[in-house]
Amino acid sequence: MRVIITGAASGIGRAVAELLAAEAGAHQLLLTDRDGESLTVVAAAIGSAAGTCVADLSSADCGEVIVAAALAHMGGIDAVVSNAGIIAGAPLVEQTAELFDKIYAINTRATWLLAKAAYPHLAANRGAFVATASMSATQPTPGLGFYSSSKAALLMLVRQLSLEWGQEGIRCNTVSPGPTYTPMTEAGYADADRRAAREAMIPLRKLGMADDVANAIRFLIGPQSSHITGIDILVDGGMSNNLMPATGGGTGQQASK
Ligand SMILES: NC(=O)c1ccc[n+]([C@@H]2O[C@H](COP(=O)([O-])OP(=O)(O)OC[C@H]3O[C@@H](n4cnc5c(N)ncnc54)[C@H](O)[C@@H]3O)[C@@H](O)[C@H]2O)c1
Repeated sequence: MRVIITGAASGIGRAVAELLAAEAGAHQLLLTDRDGESLTVVAAAIGSAAGTCVADLSSADCGEVIVAAALAHMGGIDAVVSNAGIIAGAPLVEQTAELFDKIYAINTRATWLLAKAAYPHLAANRGAFVATASMSATQPTPGLGFYSSSKAALLMLVRQLSLEWGQEGIRCNTVSPGPTYTPMTEAGYADADRRAAREAMIPLRKLGMADDVANAIRFLIGPQSSHITGIDILVDGGMSNNLMPATGGGTGQQASK
């Protein structure tokens, strides 16, 4: 497969690149990120299959720039993993229009721009498109109102693409990680008590790892999901089912007669 991966210099994007590079079979990868230094390190670890493109996803021309680099390196595109995203937070009443535009540009608009630029190439190959959303897309998240709403918009954007592009055989899906240990979050989990409290909220009793999410992405870009489009795979260790246990559930209540 010939695969574009955004946010490939770190965390989940890097794990997808390493997973594909470790597989038997000749995948070709176009790794892209705004962090050129880290991207070079990842590409060097992967070897000759990896081309790189340093691009800022907040730019309006990012889709065209990345697709041009992909075509130059691989000659075509079979799958796109639109994974990069940023997190920033404060209560909504304290936020600014500048931050709104920045978060939505990277977390939402860039996926559309990349999909649009890749469209004729995905159509030519009956390809696959996967974006990394978040558990926050469906769960309002304290302090992360722009993040959660930008990911909610991303979920619908990709469902919309699945509808519009299905007749050309292009499958479009999302993955939604729950709390996942990556460079984005590791500072927050350096506090052992905080990490333990978070893990206690997760039915599987552990944070997700970048590989857990990468495996779901791998499934969605590959032939094993050949009749799946327009879905979201939650990779959250069951955390989104933990609302009622957090309230105490049925404990202390009388059974109906
Ligand atoms: N880690 C988690 O707990 C978690 C949970 C839910 C969703 N996610 C989502 O998973 C995705 C990957 O996150 P991660 O945890 O691997 O984070 P990460 O910070 O480790 O990696 C994100 C990568 O995206 C790149 N990036 C950020 N802004 C960019 C821009 N403007 N242009 C180009 N590249 C840019 C960064 O340089 C970085 O390499 C994100 O979309 C994030 O929102 C993560």
